Amino acid sequence: MTSSDGYRVAVVGATGQVGTVMLGLLRERGFPVREIVPFASERSAGRELDGGLVVQPLTDETIRGFDLAIFSAGGSTSGEWAPRFVEAGAVVVDNSSKWRMNDDVPLVVSEVNPDALDGHRGIIANPNCSTMQMVVALKPIQEVAGIERLVISTYQAVSGTGKKAVDELLSQSRAILAGDAPPEPRSYAHQIAFNALPHAGSFAPGDDHTDEERKLINETRKILGDPSIRVSATCVRVPVVNGHSESVNVETRAPLSPDEARELLRDAPGVTVLDDPDGTSYPMAIEASGRDDVFVGRIRRDPGHDQALDLWIVSDNLRKGAATNAVQLAEVLHERGLIGARVA
Ligand SMILES: NC(=O)c1ccc[n+]([C@@H]2O[C@H](COP(=O)([O-])OP(=O)(O)OC[C@H]3O[C@@H](n4cnc5c(N)ncnc54)[C@H](OP(=O)(O)O)[C@@H]3O)[C@@H](O)[C@H]2O)c1
Repeated sequence: MTSSDGYRVAVVGATGQVGTVMLGLLRERGFPVREIVPFASERSAGRELDGGLVVQPLTDETIRGFDLAIFSAGGSTSGEWAPRFVEAGAVVVDNSSKWRMNDDVPLVVSEVNPDALDGHRGIIANPNCSTMQMVVALKPIQEVAGIERLVISTYQAVSGTGKKAVDELLSQSRAILAGDAPPEPRSYAHQIAFNALPHAGSFAPGDDHTDEERKLINETRKILGDPSIRVSATCVRVPVVNGHSESVNVETRAPLSPDEARELLRDAPGVTVLDDPDGTSYPMAIEASGRDDVFVGRIRRDPGHDQALDLWIVSDNLRKGAATNAVQLAEVLHERGLIGARVA
């Protein structure tokens, strides 16, 4: 298939939060498509989506003949079906954590390490949402001053857990405000409404960090190409519907002033600096939600360390944290002639 005819694109997980944004972005950004086919679970097969597309089930027959498949349907679906799409000829961009740390699989943020796409073998991984927004802001700092250590605390929105978690936050909140007992927690170990849970992700047996914290540590090193960066991470779920916020302390290898960091970030692709504390201007989840940029503010010297800065980084986890980056990767693959090409 030549790109002038447009590609045949599968969107797997098309009925979910990320998949819905993805379908909108493929249209909005004018990605050259000949046909988009939405896939979801058996439960949704036959359902008509806005715009008239009909959801397909995943079968050996329905997955044939695609140039590109973008997955946001969880790790087990990606584990089973991404290799089958590749075998059938498609390039896969996957939003789940299933393939991210495989040596053979590039883990790519479009503004940070697009060259990693060049040697792909069929599957390309989209990073975890918290990692994604952070490395977009850290890359320009790393290029100029190097990064020695990061101390990260996240304030993650419930949309990062899926649609059911958003419903749970809203139904618990409504019940409490009406003076009723809130519904029992299902998406989380405890009530999320009017609370903050130091437990984003899950604890593997014997590990004192959640998998979300491990992703931040490992994926950051892989994307920035420096396994020696020391990372401390605490991931917290907060009762925000959409948009992740992060407090990040960055110790650099060479001196870098807050003014220099601000200038670097003002020029960085995909970043908007909002940093006027006197004018109460700083990034906030409710303003980042629905937008594609990574917002950075509260840029200041760490009073406890001559060579460390504190940053506040906010972005829409469903957009840059997932769907926007996936579509941007598809655009880079198209520009570089890498759809339909792979290293054996
Ligand atoms: N939410 C975020 O901020 C975020 C950020 C980065 C990455 N991700 C990743 O993106 C994925 C989806 O997240 P989400 O928030 O969009 O979740 P979601 O709203 O719960 O949607 C899940 C989607 O997966 C589909 N699905 C579930 N089981 C399936 C199966 N066995 N076969 C085919 N399709 C199946 C669902 O179809 P049905 O409607 O038929 O059930 C739905 O379309 C996850 O892997 C998540 O880790 C999410």
